[in-house]
Amino acid sequence: MKSPILASSLLIVDSITTTLLMSSKASTASATLTLRILRKKHWCLLKRVKNMLKKDRLKFNFFLAVPQEGSISKEELQKLLDPAVYKIGCSQAAKNKWVQMGNQISRKVQHVEDRVKDLLLQIQDGQELGKDDNNSLKARKLTALQTWKGYSVKRGPEYAPRRRRTATDLTREHLQGGDWRNIEFKEYNFSAKGPPPESGHLHPLNKVKERIKNIFRLMNFEEMPTNRYVESSFWNFDALFQPQQHPARDSHDTFFLKAPATTKQLPEDYVETVKRVHESGGYGSRGYGYEWKREEANKNLLRTHTTAISSRMLYALAQHAKQQSFTPKKYFSIDRVFRNEAVDRTHLAEFHQIEGLVCDRGLTLGHLIGVLQDFFSRLGMDKLKFKPAYNPYTEPSMEIFSYHEGLKKWVEIGNSGMFRPEMLRPMGFSEDVNVIAWGLSLERPTMILYGINNIRDLFGHKVDLGLIKKNPLCLIGIK
Ligand code: PHE
Repeated sequence: MKSPILASSLLIVDSITTTLLMSSKASTASATLTLRILRKKHWCLLKRVKNMLKKDRLKFNFFLAVPQEGSISKEELQKLLDPAVYKIGCSQAAKNKWVQMGNQISRKVQHVEDRVKDLLLQIQDGQELGKDDNNSLKARKLTALQTWKGYSVKRGPEYAPRRRRTATDLTREHLQGGDWRNIEFKEYNFSAKGPPPESGHLHPLNKVKERIKNIFRLMNFEEMPTNRYVESSFWNFDALFQPQQHPARDSHDTFFLKAPATTKQLPEDYVETVKRVHESGGYGSRGYGYEWKREEANKNLLRTHTTAISSRMLYALAQHAKQQSFTPKKYFSIDRVFRNEAVDRTHLAEFHQIEGLVCDRGLTLGHLIGVLQDFFSRLGMDKLKFKPAYNPYTEPSMEIFSYHEGLKKWVEIGNSGMFRPEMLRPMGFSEDVNVIAWGLSLERPTMILYGINNIRDLFGHKVDLGLIKKNPLCLIGIK
């Protein structure tokens, strides 16, 4: 079959018309372009043969330079010819017995004819040979059949130089104007993806918080209501047997409120007992021996720890025990606390505190260590170490360290202790009731889990919203 663009008898069109479609309709009738794949088979010389022909031509040119009659001197011939022609000719023309070599060079034959070479040259020029010639050249491994591939691109029946707009909806105007008859409608694409739905994203702190809440729930802890950022100094400090001259209370570490500057309501009986225990002790304690001031306890502040909530909850529990009977409790909370600290890579003036406590009869330091080991191993921290520490409201007190496999060192992860009798007894608990408790920040494990180095990238106005959208699920605490 002959193609208009390829004048060759060997042209084969081996594809059915392929259509390039610009509209979504998959019928040939609506094709804007028609594409045909064309194949042409032709004979070509093998590489080795091409080189051979080149040499042969040099040899032939050498022969032509030798005069038909008489002879020519070597030097003269050398001057006449290209060095390559001369060099090849000297060796090859003599070998073929075309010329007589010596100081004088003369022809031995009048014509050199090589039919095979002529055929090969014809192929090189792109000419067609007869079937027999082609077969014999192929059999002598001089030529090979090659396939040429090409395309013919033509305008299709639906050809339009500019993209045509198809209607996506049938409108009132189409109906009223009657153009619905001629209009081309776009087909529905039922497998097209819709736009991704907009949705909210949980902040990494919220994800880790939820996981830790689940760990507490699995350990049968109840959540304490922490919905009060403003607290009185009484519940934040005094109830925790923290002396009124304690450096943490001064304005460097605590944000005191201007309005309302003081609290209106405190349980008066309990306030009296707290005052007494601060001033002169009781329950085996000597107290601090200073004059306790109510004005100091009344001052409102932003809570510096959620232990303020623990003291409220324990007081309520002790009241309940007095009226009815004592019920052991396991409590936890995760919420914001505020400290007037210099802001740097790892500190902000606020953070989230995780707090857990167990209130029961006959608890010991061994129970505390056991509960801590259980809790932290569920967070993926199996290796723990404890260091004696000081808190005004716990005795003994322990700092908790965990071995960080990534950093290859022990990292401080929390603070803990057994609440002092000076805190528990004024609330109304009997002597045999103990409370073991611990606290840690939510930011620290979150930064470690999400590989965040600067706390300002995690919390506050500089946080990149992209970080919140992209961050993966948090998968701790699945034990
Ligand atoms: N309130 C302590 C803090 O702010 C944490 C803590 C809670 C320590 C309970 C001991 C017991 O770090």
